[in-house]
Amino acid sequence: MANSSQNPSTLIEEVISFIKKERELYGDFSMRDSLTRKSSKPEAEKPESNKISEPEDEVYDGNQIYREIEKCQNLEELKALCEKADVLKTDLKNTKMVFGDGNPNADLMLIGEAPGAEEDKQGEPFVGSAGKMLNQILEAINFKRDDIYISNILKHRPPNNRDPLPEERKRSLPFLLKQIELIDPKLILALGKVSAQTLLDTNASLTKMRGKFHNFRGKYELLATFHPAALLYRRKWKRPTWEDVQLLRKRYDELGGKP
Ligand code: URA
Repeated sequence: MANSSQNPSTLIEEVISFIKKERELYGDFSMRDSLTRKSSKPEAEKPESNKISEPEDEVYDGNQIYREIEKCQNLEELKALCEKADVLKTDLKNTKMVFGDGNPNADLMLIGEAPGAEEDKQGEPFVGSAGKMLNQILEAINFKRDDIYISNILKHRPPNNRDPLPEERKRSLPFLLKQIELIDPKLILALGKVSAQTLLDTNASLTKMRGKFHNFRGKYELLATFHPAALLYRRKWKRPTWEDVQLLRKRYDELGGKP
């Protein structure tokens, strides 16, 4: 923060950015209540389904767009739906929708937090400085960006790169679950605390979640690791990240992941 004392708005931006980075390590709120779905149906009466996304909550019920998610047969249809979904927007105006990118048949899906400034400009995930770090990680375990699919918990940029709010995550999740279902990967890598907490519906620390595979909605294996942006300022997280991604590569090969 060397020169920021002359410019208050720069100082505020730097403080916000610092707090955001700190929160990457120390979670400060629970997703449990906000992501818990209320269902009046007894367990035994639920229809058998292969689907991983079935919004039942009254917040979703009032909004027709959530019923349209299930009608999407492919990623193009889902992307078109996301383009017109106001429920995906944050309180930052005029942002570009960042749907996701990569191989639609990927066996590995990476899920980050939310688009940043560069992603918002280009409409693609992980194309800024975090993206450069991510590319290095992928290269180290012999993946190309084209081999995998990358998306985020949020499809729009939050203001000042703040953490996505619980309500924003909740509104976005059914779209992401459909996206996962359409790609149907063998493995999911959650990048950072926000992604892992949202997907695993917990407020556990990343240190607790990383390093092992979790069952994700009875259908997928999910590994969590540090967010690539966090590695830019916390060198000590590089080693555990390296261990995690080696574990990921090993499991991918065991499962016959292609390519
Ligand atoms: N950070 C994320 O979590 N996602 C992006 O797309 C870019 C930066």
